[in-house]
Amino acid sequence: MEILIAADRIHQRVVELAEQIERDYQSRPVMIVGVLTGCLVFLADLIRRLDLPVRIHLVQASSYRGTATSAGALQLRADTLPDLAGREVLIVDDILDTGQTLARVIETIRGRGAAHIRVAVLLRKKERLIAPVEADYVGFDIPDEFVVGYGLDYNDEYRHLPHIAVLREP
Ligand code: XMP
Repeated sequence: MEILIAADRIHQRVVELAEQIERDYQSRPVMIVGVLTGCLVFLADLIRRLDLPVRIHLVQASSYRGTATSAGALQLRADTLPDLAGREVLIVDDILDTGQTLARVIETIRGRGAAHIRVAVLLRKKERLIAPVEADYVGFDIPDEFVVGYGLDYNDEYRHLPHIAVLREP
């Protein structure tokens, strides 16, 4: 598979994003909500770089199957989310593609009373964005290719790769 973003570039960028996040929150407490399963590696690396009072929650979202370009019905499991009244929330996801997943997650978190919501994604496919979602922190803008690695999967494979690779249909 063609490597699109090498592991050392990802690590360097995660450090920069963490610095930017620290500057913005200025030691205020932040509730991080990670969107499973794709966020897992990005979230783990990012939180260990953050010198902030942080709480972490996870929600499960799934819509994408294989390399299909249109997402199926989105399932969002957020029933374990606590009351977020008055809290500053940072949503962490692997990729902003059409934006439908994050739009739903944002709406759900707003419904829990969050005072302020920001969004961090490792990757963004700008051309595919259709939902009105803006990410505050973006690792890399990438072309419209199906990518795997660093948490992203194809049929639950390849999440463990340390880099981002392009998966092309055989
Ligand atoms: P939407 O379209 O709702 O999609 O922004 C977001 C979710 O879809 C998955 N996704 C991908 N997964 N390679 C992947 O492994 C990709 O290129 C890709 N594009 C979207 C991902 O789970 C993301 O959270």
